[in-house]
Amino acid sequence: MAAAAREVEKKIESLRDKIRQHEYLYYVLDQPEISDLEFDKLMQQLKDLEAQHPELITPDSPTQRVGGKPREGFVKVSHSSPMLSLDNTYNEDELRAWESRVHELSGRAAIDYVCELKLDGMSLALIYEGGKLARGITRGDGSVGEDVTLNVRTVRSVPLSIPPEKLKQAGIPADFEVRGELLMPLAGFKKMNAERESEGLSLFANPRNATAGTVRQLDSRVTAGRRLDYFSYMLLKNGRTYFDRHSKTLDALEAAGFKVNQNRKLVHSMDEAWAFIREWEAKRDSLPYEIDGIVVKVDRTSLQEELGFTGKAPRWAIAYKYAARAGITKLEDIRVQVGRTGKLTPVAMLAPVLIGGTTVRNASLHNMDEIERLGVKIGDWVQVERGGDVIPKVAKVVDDKEHPRGHKTFHMPETCPVCGTKVVRTEGEVDYRCVNANCPAKLRETILHFASRGVMNIDGMGDALVSQLTEKGLVKNVADIYSLPKKDLLGLERFADKSAQNIIDEIENSKKLPLERVIYGLGIRFVGERTAQFLAEHFGSMEALEKASVEELQDVNEVGPRIAESIAEFFSVPANRKLVGRLREAGLTLTGEKKERGTMLAGKTFVLTGTLAHFTRDEAKKMIEDAGGKVTGSVSKKTDYVVAGADAGSKLDKAKALGIEVIGEEELRKLAG
Ligand code: IVH
Repeated sequence: MAAAAREVEKKIESLRDKIRQHEYLYYVLDQPEISDLEFDKLMQQLKDLEAQHPELITPDSPTQRVGGKPREGFVKVSHSSPMLSLDNTYNEDELRAWESRVHELSGRAAIDYVCELKLDGMSLALIYEGGKLARGITRGDGSVGEDVTLNVRTVRSVPLSIPPEKLKQAGIPADFEVRGELLMPLAGFKKMNAERESEGLSLFANPRNATAGTVRQLDSRVTAGRRLDYFSYMLLKNGRTYFDRHSKTLDALEAAGFKVNQNRKLVHSMDEAWAFIREWEAKRDSLPYEIDGIVVKVDRTSLQEELGFTGKAPRWAIAYKYAARAGITKLEDIRVQVGRTGKLTPVAMLAPVLIGGTTVRNASLHNMDEIERLGVKIGDWVQVERGGDVIPKVAKVVDDKEHPRGHKTFHMPETCPVCGTKVVRTEGEVDYRCVNANCPAKLRETILHFASRGVMNIDGMGDALVSQLTEKGLVKNVADIYSLPKKDLLGLERFADKSAQNIIDEIENSKKLPLERVIYGLGIRFVGERTAQFLAEHFGSMEALEKASVEELQDVNEVGPRIAESIAEFFSVPANRKLVGRLREAGLTLTGEKKERGTMLAGKTFVLTGTLAHFTRDEAKKMIEDAGGKVTGSVSKKTDYVVAGADAGSKLDKAKALGIEVIGEEELRKLAG
């Protein structure tokens, strides 16, 4: 190898080490030593070097966390030993009974236990080979799970590789398995649901469901965007516990750089364990993630083995489950709220009730199906449950002597409770919606979306300004932004001449943004950034899009009946057509370049490997996609062509082994027309 190439390789390795160390400090220890900006700079340097030398990219490079490789499906994988669940107890008596049994079966008087939080996520196995993360496998049915490695790589608290010295220090062999809990912290959960709500997507009921939904995403870019966290609690070698005490396992995992929950305790009696349980019952609301109980585990591995298993759970561990924080109260009324996409959400108005230290006055009833499932009527007594920070929900109707049934049946209103427009329920869908783009309830959120970065990019038009503009009636729809006089801005709180002029300039600049941004900005349900782009390319103008029929819309890449109907419905409302007319008059860019995606490569899947001589990977990818083909990251039986450049590595070998056609860039150019 030439000296220069060795230099680059050294530089890349040193950058990777630095980044790994900072990831560890930030994501595992929560103790960052450098700013986000400095971190991003290091990452960018590494990305640039790797882009220049793609042959040096390794799967454990920190740049490979955000895979972005659309997957075809998940492969089933057998576990090295069954992934068990836990038996539950719900009160102190049951817990003491479990303890007696452990004493009885083991014939011992004194037993050490480790108490841990019972994290409310999903269990996940990580297989390390030679100190490198080889596979991440879901629990599945306990004996066979699914390979979700690409998604697991995006989880920052999962180490992609561990230096041999570190493993040695921790006393861990190079090939091993870690098991632990994957979860979504509450802050991220709330943020994600808020975003989903604004996009008109269904909400996840709790962080656990959100975690499961996220790790099973086919596109790992989606997983990467949703920041999951992973806590380790088991270490296996050939399917068996490796250390002689569970407490040692946890310490060793920690020493090797895994994230192990700090809120754990080695105790010498059940009294101490009980104190731990009570302590965390009171403190659970202070945690940034949800727990649903405490796990008590026998510390000594030899004793664990003696005790063995019953069915699906070990005899050496028990879960103490906290009661769902619930209360019974009267449902006084059901009101309807309207969100940005016009979704009508029925909300239960409750007689105030204290649940887990918080007074609850209302709870979501989600949709009409949920109301029917619960069979709830106004005037009923209901059981209301509250998770960590999650919106309280009506769990069931209480029906006994003290709690007589209510009589008033709730009906979804036929018109929007805010603007009076007729409400629509699309066939096959759960939700009712108001389709009037000018509905004031939707206004604030719509304007915020329109002005945001990545849409019309009107810097400075955030929460504070939009609230004032809409509350004062200065902006009644997105078109009003473009006729906003400077004097109106000057009349607002904290606006001086300069700041007002800045906003005016920003608004003016936004007119230059391309057609796809405006389409995206309209906030049509199901029309995200990518769909907006396809629509703009296909129709080439807003006018053509407005006129398109449901059938014509479905000619567009990735647009099926559901999206097509939503678009046609939007443009069928006169107020929406008028709005677009005003945007046109204001001078926004409502035409673009019409670009037919070719069909030459439709249905064909490509993998790129090695360094191409005449274009970058992005250019090659674009060429393939423009011709209707698809580019994936790894070679499988489903790959049609592998495009190989100089220094192609293992992907080329794999292609040959699978008998997949290997082509050069000249041939690619011909194929793509
Ligand atoms: S130990 C054989 N420890 O609870 C040991 N599990 O209800 C089984 N869980 O499937 C796992 N926190 O997903 C263990 N500190 C903890 C846990 C924990 C949460 C989950 C895990 C398991 C489920 C069983």
